[in-house]
Amino acid sequence: MQNKTRYFHSIEFIVMASTIANMPLNVGTIKGLDCRSYGNFKPNALPIRPSVSTLPYRCMFVVKASTSDGPMKKLGRSDAECEAAVVAGNIPEAPPVPPIPSSPAGTPVVPSFEISRRPRRNRRSPVLRSAFQETSLSPANFVYPLFIHEGEEDTPIGAMPGCYRLGWRHGLLEEVSKARDVGVNSIVLFPKVPDALKTPTGDEAYNDSGLVPRTIRLLKDKYPDLIIYTDVALDPYSSDGHDGIVREDGVIMNDETVHQLCKQAVSQARAGADVVSPSDMMDGRVGAIRSALDAEGFQHVSIMSYTAKYASSFYGPFREALDSNPRFGDKKTYQMNPANYREALIELRADESEGADILLVKPGLPYLDVIRLLRDNSPLPIAAYQVSGEYSMIKAGGVLKMIDEEKVMLESLMCLRRAGADIILTYFALQAARSLCGEK
Ligand code: PBG
Repeated sequence: MQNKTRYFHSIEFIVMASTIANMPLNVGTIKGLDCRSYGNFKPNALPIRPSVSTLPYRCMFVVKASTSDGPMKKLGRSDAECEAAVVAGNIPEAPPVPPIPSSPAGTPVVPSFEISRRPRRNRRSPVLRSAFQETSLSPANFVYPLFIHEGEEDTPIGAMPGCYRLGWRHGLLEEVSKARDVGVNSIVLFPKVPDALKTPTGDEAYNDSGLVPRTIRLLKDKYPDLIIYTDVALDPYSSDGHDGIVREDGVIMNDETVHQLCKQAVSQARAGADVVSPSDMMDGRVGAIRSALDAEGFQHVSIMSYTAKYASSFYGPFREALDSNPRFGDKKTYQMNPANYREALIELRADESEGADILLVKPGLPYLDVIRLLRDNSPLPIAAYQVSGEYSMIKAGGVLKMIDEEKVMLESLMCLRRAGADIILTYFALQAARSLCGEK
């Protein structure tokens, strides 16, 4: 068929991040959720010259709004004939109003509604749907949580299919490199600490040659522009499995814990962390950590505060991954009650006034209202954590063929963005970025 590209409405999707290590990543926005799900709407991996911005894009997709056999019929003339006709003053007629295709037998015959609003008009073609899509999803929005351990092997995590405790020396570096290849250049580290190093006061948390600081230094040496988030909390280091120091009567001590967290954050910053992320929910920790960082010359290190972190059962698989279940009791005296909404505003005000740079809501999908609450009440960037239980449920549903894993994954991430999250911490980061880039 001649000239068929004349009738394509092409939308250029800039999708591929650099494969070149250390190059600053600048991945364009992808209307990912929509672009892969339409019948006649197939991304074509045609490497063409980027028309927007310059490097480091590897290729772009031309998305065809219709195949050549679709309703947009070719006119049967060559480009040259069309041009000659126009030059001769023969401007084509408007296309005829197409005849209405026949409906199935038995379709009721009814007069057209006289309604002025027909919202379906703006949804009637892939080009229009794409033009009016309000929210976008890009690998640049993802932060990839990675589990590390001292071993050399990558050990699968039973409750989180597709996730591993990565050897800090090899497996981790490979995983980071894969993520960077598809535009994910932010990670958050979670260490699995040997039992022998766990104590009631979690002092290993600020050992400068401990697993996390050592890993940060290695990563920064290999990938200087990688953005490294760290977790600030005592639970991986606590022999009690709590985020803070436990008093004899079971009370989690607040101010004493914050003292330890400050040391932990400074130790992480010293190793090269870009963003320290207190996930412990002690009172006053953001301000204390800010002062401690500043006092040591780390004014440039950001704080992502777990502002609204709920005492959630969705963390189950994570605690298995790190063997960090509380040895007794639960975390309800510091993490928030899942029934509470207004209380998130109290945490928000504290974190803002204490100098947090990013506010996080956790878990993600069951707490979309809280994400929206923070979004509407603060100008700060909002992060959502799609936690282990959310991830594992989608994985399990996919394995059991109850849902389409890839579509549900992308939809859940898009919904977190729509609710107001700027960034999303998600174990799907690599898989979703690959999917958005047209890779499997
Ligand atoms: C603890 C911490 C937890 C998670 C991240 N940091 C678990 C908890 O609070 O018990 C959970 C993450 C997930 O479930 O994916 N500081």
